[in-house]
Amino acid sequence: MMIKQLIINMLNRKGFMRTMYPYANKQYGKFERYSVMNKTDCDASYVVTHIRILTHEIEKGFSLPEPRKGFGKAKLQELDRLLSIYEKKFMGYDDAAYQTAIATVCYYKSCAEQYVLDISFLNNERYQANETLNCGVRISDKRELLKSDFETYYEFEKTRHSVRNYKNMALDPEDVRKAILGAQLAPSACNRQSVKVFHITGAERCEKVLNIQNGAKGFSIVNDVFIIAASLSSYTSPLESNTGFVDSGLFAMNFLLSLHSLGIGACPLLWNDETDRAKQLRDIVQISESYEIALIVPAGYYTDIVKYAVSPRKPFELVYERL
Ligand SMILES: Cc1cc2nc3c(=O)[nH]c(=O)nc-3n(C[C@H](O)[C@H](O)[C@H](O)COP(=O)(O)O)c2cc1C
Repeated sequence: MMIKQLIINMLNRKGFMRTMYPYANKQYGKFERYSVMNKTDCDASYVVTHIRILTHEIEKGFSLPEPRKGFGKAKLQELDRLLSIYEKKFMGYDDAAYQTAIATVCYYKSCAEQYVLDISFLNNERYQANETLNCGVRISDKRELLKSDFETYYEFEKTRHSVRNYKNMALDPEDVRKAILGAQLAPSACNRQSVKVFHITGAERCEKVLNIQNGAKGFSIVNDVFIIAASLSSYTSPLESNTGFVDSGLFAMNFLLSLHSLGIGACPLLWNDETDRAKQLRDIVQISESYEIALIVPAGYYTDIVKYAVSPRKPFELVYERL
């Protein structure tokens, strides 16, 4: 048995065994075919996906503690271009994305003076504010988000948002413990519970980690960062090569809600462990390569007034289909 395993490991390292593991190739083939990575703006899905991304990038700019003066011009120009294409060729494909983008640009226009934003190139006819669509950022009193008498779980869920501005104060280890215990209630494949949370403390180390991740520019000072990772040693076959991400995602959602219930805001950030950044990260934090890192989560206590991007959701009909 040991000799067989040694031979497999050796062949694996030399790359001879890859054909035995066709799932990853098959999956990548599907990704290449159906994602928009090889598409252009002749394709409706490309246009809509980029409209959604740019819309979010603009709302996110407003959700930062100190939005940068003049921010977002190049993004707005590209969004404006894609909206023209959508109007000409793809109306009806995903009008919710279109309407949300229009409303977000209207919000941008309404803040032009405050943040010195250039809106001179916008076609005013297209950007007429729709009062029924709530876009941009919202500001809530912390007490509203943290009241304890929600009538339904849905009402509680609606009060969680990605927050990018935190009180400059380290988290109480007892709160961290409670949040992890809550996260652990998430389901996991065969109850193997592969997920582990690595907790980085101290503003300086947190900043280093976030700089490497690169998605937290403009956030306030962060004193606590959580790295959510799954131990690959919990999985048994190539069919499970993505299960760590599924387990981590479910765990992370529970974690975010638990943190929120304790008065702690957070923002999930995506991590891809296959890039050069993985080495940079592991030079700062000692996490074995055997852990597949899925998400990086900066967190901190809410400030008294909480600002967050509205991030409107798709209409129900677009996310549900009864077959
Ligand atoms: C996988 C993933 C990656 C994300 N990456 C970033 C990021 O790099 N920077 C950021 O500010 N927010 C990031 N977010 C937060 C999303 O922008 C946010 O979840 C989304 O706009 C919905 O808003 P909500 O969380 O307030 O409901 C990410 C969220 C997820 C789930």
